[in-house]
Amino acid sequence: MAQQYSKVGSLMRIPRSHENAVTLYGPAFATDPAGAYRQIRESYGPVAPVLLEGDVPAWLVLGYREVRYVTSNPQLFARSSAKWNLWEQVPPDWPLAPIIMPNPSATFLDGPERQRRVAATNDSLDAIDRTDLTRACIRVADQVIDQFCGDGRADLLAQYAVPIPLLVMARICGIPQEESADVTRDMLLLGTATAEGAEAFGRAFGKIRELAAASRERPGRTLPHLLASHPAGLTDDEIAWELFGIVIAATGTSNWIGSALRLMLIDDQFSLALQGGRASVEAALNEVLWKDSPLQNAPGGRYATQDCDLGGWRIGKGDMIVLGLAAASADPAVRPERVDSVGANRAHLAFGHGEYACPYPAAEIAWVMARTVTEVLLDRIPDVELAVPAEDLEWRQSVWMRSLKALPVTFTPSVTVSRPGADLSG
Ligand code: HEM
Repeated sequence: MAQQYSKVGSLMRIPRSHENAVTLYGPAFATDPAGAYRQIRESYGPVAPVLLEGDVPAWLVLGYREVRYVTSNPQLFARSSAKWNLWEQVPPDWPLAPIIMPNPSATFLDGPERQRRVAATNDSLDAIDRTDLTRACIRVADQVIDQFCGDGRADLLAQYAVPIPLLVMARICGIPQEESADVTRDMLLLGTATAEGAEAFGRAFGKIRELAAASRERPGRTLPHLLASHPAGLTDDEIAWELFGIVIAATGTSNWIGSALRLMLIDDQFSLALQGGRASVEAALNEVLWKDSPLQNAPGGRYATQDCDLGGWRIGKGDMIVLGLAAASADPAVRPERVDSVGANRAHLAFGHGEYACPYPAAEIAWVMARTVTEVLLDRIPDVELAVPAEDLEWRQSVWMRSLKALPVTFTPSVTVSRPGADLSG
């Protein structure tokens, strides 16, 4: 279907359907994303025309039912951004290009080739021993806490929640401990669209390639070896791209841990955990998945493979669909506003849905990691308190991630400990 265009917007021609579109960027999504999505839903219903950064048109799906419909129909809504109809119009320096551009990992493939690669990834993640994983999480958490426990103050985001998932993944991948801090630093830098970020990508991906190349000779329980010995017969290059995707995906756990710690520090309903009531750790983590979903909107999105109708709109072939995971989990159809507690209900969409969702064993690993390191922190620093009033805590200005800027705390200084932990290198 030929689109009609009028010349508005800073980077490109805006289709008529998007002339009154919502801008999906700006401060509203840092201060009150839930309020912003409520307003969009009230004005547009379950699907809204939106402009991404740079005024690039897309569709935001906010309805729970509609997100499940889109993610359950990969034939109609493909995951590969190669199918996007606007690639020729976005300039090479478009800020979202690095997260949307297809790479050689299975996420951007369809059909039997994807099935082969995904089977290897999912089976390998599933084969990671959960007891070893828990011990590795305890060991990493202890080592990280040792670095600040004598100070009596810390930023639990930058000094705890951010490095931990990468340090745990470094162990799962068999990266020697003395190299893991450098690899972690590079992985954190590579998301920045700077020369430094590009160099960090080169070093981090180089390390991952090295692991992939050595994976067949170095037996053990590490993820590279599990991938290499899978009957799917992955090449070294395929192992490297799957590992890279897995490690990047795991970083989402940082925001989850940070937001759950915040909740336990500010909300009486969850603060029991600080005195040893462990049920609250899981409850706080689950609450965050419903109300402060670490991945607010799935940045890769979906791409219509043909003209179709969705939520009362006519979607064009190749149009980009942004999955509004946070908005969908707050859809009054599944979470009426009068019901404040989510209890143990796990039907949120924080881990996505359908074929391209977070693989079940990955979400399980994320749960083990988040629960264990939160418990270790509370064991080690039981009198932890916020160092600033709760209302001074700020969120980063991102429509994609729900991420605190910092989580400053104070506590009674204590001594370092050393507990045994698994290194998973077999
Ligand atoms: C150890 C931690 C984690 C690992 C190893 C992991 C791994 C992955 C992988 C490999 C994919 C791509 C699936 C595919 O292409 O088929 C994925 C997708 C996804 N992950 Fe995770 N993940 C982790 C933690 C998380 C966390 C904490 C969240 C949020 C709470 C999350 C949310 C998602 C979502 C929403 C998708 C799907 C995006 C879409 O539908 O386009 N993941 N994850």
